[in-house]
Amino acid sequence: MHRFVIHHFETIKSTNDELKAWVNADEFTVITAADQTAGRGRRDRSWHSAPGDGLYMSVLLRPTAQPESVPLISLLTGITVAETLMEFGAAGIDIKWPNDVLACGKKISGVLIEGASAGATGLRLIVGIGVNINQRSFPDDLADTATSLALITERSTPVDAIRDALLDRFARWYDVWRNCGGRAIIARYCELSSYATGKLVRILTDSGDLAGETCGLDASGALQLRTPAGEIRTVISGEVVRLRENED
Ligand code: BTN
Repeated sequence: MHRFVIHHFETIKSTNDELKAWVNADEFTVITAADQTAGRGRRDRSWHSAPGDGLYMSVLLRPTAQPESVPLISLLTGITVAETLMEFGAAGIDIKWPNDVLACGKKISGVLIEGASAGATGLRLIVGIGVNINQRSFPDDLADTATSLALITERSTPVDAIRDALLDRFARWYDVWRNCGGRAIIARYCELSSYATGKLVRILTDSGDLAGETCGLDASGALQLRTPAGEIRTVISGEVVRLRENED
């Protein structure tokens, strides 16, 4: 089992930013914070970090595998969070590609993975994970789209319990990735994610928007999209937005 070394801060700007100063530390160095004053999300968004109510955590990885296999780390992080939340009683868990975890259709967790170098040789990844745990309400602009474990299960859960369970699972899935490659990760992902196949979506990518129906993941973890013209497009990164037409 991996030995995570956890450094906890009461208040910090962003656990991802803090960990960037630690890129030469051992793999599995972890930064957590009770409160983030400038928590960051993907696509330059902020991450609402209610003090004490959520898990705000970043894990340093120093993978020796080729960069091409890194997207699978993004997927295994989503699997890890989804399974951990189910272990703690969350119903209606789903994963929106690549690794937004939803509960009853609302976002309960987000993941921000960033590269870091600072003169380091070899790949360094900062896996930032935010999980909404004990929030009983959200600011107006998030109220319709965000949820928490407490809102889903109607009970509070210690943040540290989620942290420990999540790191334990993360270590196991990371070992699967290192020792066995991507096949088991893709298979588990497709079991957990209703977005992997048959979902009508729009995907906002850096090179424009795409619309179509999802039709699985390729071996690297990229999402396959069938466009209305019947072409299969491979999407490496982007923001998936569900279209209303096949809502269930
Ligand atoms: C997203 O869904 O857009 C990603 C959100 C990631 C939030 C986490 S909280 C811990 C870590 N530190 C940050 O500043 N962001 C990530």
